[in-house]
Amino acid sequence: MTAMSTNEAPDRSDWREAGRGWGAQATDWAYLFEPYARPANDLLLDRLGVGAGTRLLDVACGSGLAANAAARRGATVSGLDAASALIDIAMARTPEADFRVGDMFDLPFTDRSFDVVTSFNGIWNGCDGALVEARRVLTESGRLGLTYWGAYERMGLLPYFGAVIQHSPASHQAATTRLGDTSAVAEAMLTAAGFELTDRGTVEVVNEWPDVDTAVRALASAGPSIPAIHAIGRDAFCQALRDIVAPWHDPRLGVRVSSEFGWVTARPC
Ligand SMILES: C[S@@+](CC[C@H](N)C(=O)[O-])C[C@H]1O[C@@H](n2cnc3c(N)ncnc32)[C@H](O)[C@@H]1O
Repeated sequence: MTAMSTNEAPDRSDWREAGRGWGAQATDWAYLFEPYARPANDLLLDRLGVGAGTRLLDVACGSGLAANAAARRGATVSGLDAASALIDIAMARTPEADFRVGDMFDLPFTDRSFDVVTSFNGIWNGCDGALVEARRVLTESGRLGLTYWGAYERMGLLPYFGAVIQHSPASHQAATTRLGDTSAVAEAMLTAAGFELTDRGTVEVVNEWPDVDTAVRALASAGPSIPAIHAIGRDAFCQALRDIVAPWHDPRLGVRVSSEFGWVTARPC
């Protein structure tokens, strides 16, 4: 695998389609999947000095767990995502925040209006225009933070992405080949968008599910699963997922899958 799928690697032309995919099983994604990224959320918010009064925008905010963590630190939070069903959950989690449904390639915010812009696995290789938009809405002394998938050899979910690629239509497979290498191109993308890299590292994230059925349900809710489900049907795709997940199950621990995220921080230059 060299990349993710179209739904996980939005481009300007299909953000509504991406939003429909990611929103198709919104509560499953929000409650069964999204919490795995919490260590990455906390690490990046720490590194970016997010606290009382920070004006923060989370791009491709999903169901708003990271945005909620920022709000709990006292930040004034905005968030944007293509999936209206995920934004509904984000608004329920953090009613005081300003959440919008929209396109990260055309942010509906004014120039220099944020101290911090984050995106947790939302801006990938090929999404350079979203970084240009992030640069536009940041103050001159602002900070940017991104996460993305890390090394394949430490990516426990790699077999899942393999199943997505195997069962997705060719159009989605083609997009998939572009997006898994964000780590390799992150610095060049940042430079091209007018940023200077300030720090980078990796962080372990762990998916935890009590049983195989819950793990399959969670994996089937992620945006990249949707084209595969449309192609071969939900039952067949879930069976493929079950075949992958079943060997991971430990009767004492349930299903625990560890993966690596990469992260970067940057400032405008
Ligand atoms: C991997 S999920 C990450 C969600 C969230 N940041 C998290 O950490 O759970 C990718 C998100 O990007 C959103 N997305 C895809 N294309 C988009 C676009 N063009 N503009 C805004 N959001 C987009 C999807 O709806 C989805 O919520």
